[in-house]
Amino acid sequence: MLLHLWSLLCLALAPCLSGLSLLPPPPGRHLVVGDGDLSYGAFQAKSEQQRSPDNGEGSLIVSVLESEQQHRDTYSGSRANHDAIEGTEGARVLYGVDATNLSAALSAALPPSPTFSSITFNYPHWPGKSNLRENRLLLLSFLRSAAPLLKPYPATVSVALAEGQGGSSSPTRAAWRQSWQAGSLAAEAGLLLLETSPHTHLSSYNRSSHRGVDRGFRVGQGEVHTFALPSPACPAADESCRMCSFFELHVLHSPSAGALVAAAVAGAARRAGLEGEVSLRERFGEGPPGGGGKEWAVYEAVAVGVRAPATREAAGEVRRGAQEEMAGAGLELRQGGRRSSEQVSNVIPLATYRRMQEKWGMLPIPVPAQAI
Ligand SMILES: *[C@@H]1O[C@H](CO)[C@@H](O)[C@H](O)[C@H]1NC(C)=O
Ligand SMILES: *[C@@H]1O[C@H](CO)[C@@H](O)[C@H](O)[C@H]1NC(C)=O
Repeated sequence: MLLHLWSLLCLALAPCLSGLSLLPPPPGRHLVVGDGDLSYGAFQAKSEQQRSPDNGEGSLIVSVLESEQQHRDTYSGSRANHDAIEGTEGARVLYGVDATNLSAALSAALPPSPTFSSITFNYPHWPGKSNLRENRLLLLSFLRSAAPLLKPYPATVSVALAEGQGGSSSPTRAAWRQSWQAGSLAAEAGLLLLETSPHTHLSSYNRSSHRGVDRGFRVGQGEVHTFALPSPACPAADESCRMCSFFELHVLHSPSAGALVAAAVAGAARRAGLEGEVSLRERFGEGPPGGGGKEWAVYEAVAVGVRAPATREAAGEVRRGAQEEMAGAGLELRQGGRRSSEQVSNVIPLATYRRMQEKWGMLPIPVPAQAI
């Protein structure tokens, strides 16, 4: 129990600092998008030169949405940063690149179907004032446009967000709803959120622009979100960054039902590329108390994205698969019932779900050994 509480505490406090040792991005082409005054690209060009001067294959493409003239007119550091990048072998600047439509934007300047070893977007923000919907849409559209250009792991997409903005460590569902929901948007784009880590380059460049104007902005302890395409080579997502969707299963109570439900959900989740877990939520009887009506057990199942992205569609597949298997095993399922019993939840962080589980005092039911 101590251990259990301790790990919950760690989940709550540590925004995924640890765990994974991700491989460094492989050599190849690296893309930076939405690079404000180009100072991050200038910094990268300098460190790239120091790191691998002989890397003939390597190249760095630093891009911004503005046209060259707009960029010069907006940022005092525009010319100097441009020159620093273009003065580095293998590095270049592209203007007029829409981060939400990368293949169209890059097609004119690069060979057909370019792929990248890393794609970086630091502190994306739509041009207007803070607006959750617009910012989520920007992030989703960027991830959708980046995914087809990304090589397999160890290639990654990196997105730096202000402290807490991504939502992975949201303590409650309400807090998650107020976040950008980075892990869930990534899943919609077919990408797995592997980890978040503190942004270590905050003092290495000038964070400009703020809504298209040449001034800095505050990010607290910036958090870099690292995404990859799911593949057998890709590591499991760090536990503190996993996403999940949960649903109820109402089953006629019997002493052996719990183990069967747990095995059915685990099996269906595995087939969907996810991991499944089941807890007993409550039991209730039909009809008047003591009237001899049926007694139902309400199980809650959760489908977790560990090596593949958790989406509602994937969780729905888990639900259908588990129900089929349970019916095949002779369990009686209660149809109709509450609306929530028909559906799967929105995607939320596993850390948030663990808090809910703790609040409701729900303990996962072990999957019987012969079912694993
Ligand atoms: C991307 O740009 C191309 C060319 O301008 C356009 O045809 C296409 O509709 C755009 N796609 C998106 C998703 O905006
Ligand atoms: C950051 O901005 C300051 C003032 O505009 C400038 O002196 C400095 O060179 C810039 N640094 C980088 C890395 O662009």
